[in-house]
Amino acid sequence: MPPTSQPAKPRANFDRIARPYRWLEYLSFGPMLEQCRFCRIPQLKSARRALVLGDGDGRFLARLLTANSSLHADVVDQSPAMLRLLESRAASVHARDRICIHQADALTFAPSGVYDLIVTHFFLDCFTTSEVQSLAQNIRPHLAPGALWLVSEFAIPSGFAALPARTIVSALYAAFRLITGLRTRALPNHSTALVRTGFTLLDRRTFLFGLLISELWQPS
Ligand SMILES: C[S@@+](CC[C@H](N)C(=O)[O-])C[C@H]1O[C@@H](n2cnc3c(N)ncnc32)[C@H](O)[C@@H]1O
Repeated sequence: MPPTSQPAKPRANFDRIARPYRWLEYLSFGPMLEQCRFCRIPQLKSARRALVLGDGDGRFLARLLTANSSLHADVVDQSPAMLRLLESRAASVHARDRICIHQADALTFAPSGVYDLIVTHFFLDCFTTSEVQSLAQNIRPHLAPGALWLVSEFAIPSGFAALPARTIVSALYAAFRLITGLRTRALPNHSTALVRTGFTLLDRRTFLFGLLISELWQPS
């Protein structure tokens, strides 16, 4: 898997958790993150060209490529170990030739062409609100009219679930800081960043009492 550009030093090193990532996820959240990631796949069958950012080990991408045999995807991730897993998953569903892998920092990646689908699952939480805004500004000119941006994220719900949600999210940030060196310490306000960049929220679903969200955004 040749890198398309010389990658800069990664902001956080996810190589360390690439292999156990899936099992750590099942241990902490059972099937809930997968339910959140996969719930929109039936709505994505008309997409033709996707930009998939920080997909990690490629479980989502393999499912999407299987469900939509016309889809081609540019995949951006900074972790070579994650990308190797993703590449082998894509190959296992006979879709390796439909993905173009970029080992790069998504914040400086220069998209080329026009996308009708952007995917970020549990990825925007690696950034601050202003970084999410700059990412969105970089992507916005490369979107076809009616393109969709699928976002899965952690969230802090209101009401009785707020305190446990805050505790879980803080514990996750502490664990990721320890294991990967991630510097971000709090969830960005991705909604503000996307609205400021000219996106409109089309639909929002919640899981686990609002701790997990799945959103579909569209350029206004
Ligand atoms: C928390 S994991 C999420 C993985 C997967 N999308 C999921 O749903 O679990 C974050 C992923 O984004 C990648 N990543 C983090 N920061 C990045 C950056 N600045 N540019 C590109 N990839 C990045 C990591 O290597 C990792 O694969």
